[in-house]
Amino acid sequence: MAKVDKVSRKGIVLAGGSGTRLHPLTVSVSKQLLPVYDKPMIYYPLSNLMLAGIDEILIITAPDQQDLFRNLLGDGSQYGIHLDYAVQENPDGVPQAFVIGADFIGDDPVTLILGDNIFYGQGLVQQLRRAVTSNHGATIFAYVVTDPERYGVVTFDDEGTPIAIAEKPRRPRSDYAVTGMYFFDNDVVEIARNLTPSKRGETEIIDVIRSYMKRGDLSVERMGRGIAWLDVGTHDALAEAAAYIQAVDHRQGFKIACIEEIAWRQQWISDEQLLCLSENYGNSPYGAYLAGLMESRL
Ligand code: TTP
Repeated sequence: MAKVDKVSRKGIVLAGGSGTRLHPLTVSVSKQLLPVYDKPMIYYPLSNLMLAGIDEILIITAPDQQDLFRNLLGDGSQYGIHLDYAVQENPDGVPQAFVIGADFIGDDPVTLILGDNIFYGQGLVQQLRRAVTSNHGATIFAYVVTDPERYGVVTFDDEGTPIAIAEKPRRPRSDYAVTGMYFFDNDVVEIARNLTPSKRGETEIIDVIRSYMKRGDLSVERMGRGIAWLDVGTHDALAEAAAYIQAVDHRQGFKIACIEEIAWRQQWISDEQLLCLSENYGNSPYGAYLAGLMESRL
């Protein structure tokens, strides 16, 4: 892989929440630290930000969990990135990420990814790279699901222009769910500050997206069938995601969302740094995989 230039855009992984649907797994540990096959869940969203070229990333956690994330990922320098940490006192809504992260975001555009979202597949990296090049307006991704009523749902007109967006509609007008990865310009901070909570007492990301749609600044990219989007919020989803990741890993021998490999392939870290990371993982297969990368050169 050729050297990937870092972009001047901030990234946020929202990794708070209460994870009540995963109890008792999440009574004492954050959902985003649970294993998805061979690595903690947060590796997956983090890998997508890195693949997009984003190297300044804020990780927002529940107050009592920050140290666990820090122990896992540190300041990011071992992956050639910068990691910052902040807490969300209560899970009062996804847009709070922009208010909590306002100083970190500064004057830059920002990409937010939910900490329990996994994206993987053909053409994804190109879609991510396209989305980061636009510093104006908003880009979101829509994905066909069998249960759109659980998500924000986008409706398109015949030309493919998004015309409506509804949060968890009882009768969805399309099968296109809004995924948990959002690219915004810097206006998002002000928009998030001025939101009022919905009936369920949270501020809603759909309201942020709607305000971009109203001003004609929303681009909705559709993710095709070659891409897997999984949100891992239930026991079944967690088991299914692990089985999927394991199947691809065993079949091809490539790891999905291996942040150390991504950093190395994008030339954000050197061979020596990769070797050092592999040694840190002792005699685990994951460590052996990292050590083997330099010989295989695929
Ligand atoms: P959800 O799955 O909607 O909520 P949750 O993780 O608290 O789980 P549950 O419904 O089982 O109680 O959240 C999606 C992602 O966004 C997840 O990674 C948690 C994160 N999140 C926050 O960090 N803060 C918030 O205020 C919200 C609403 C979500």
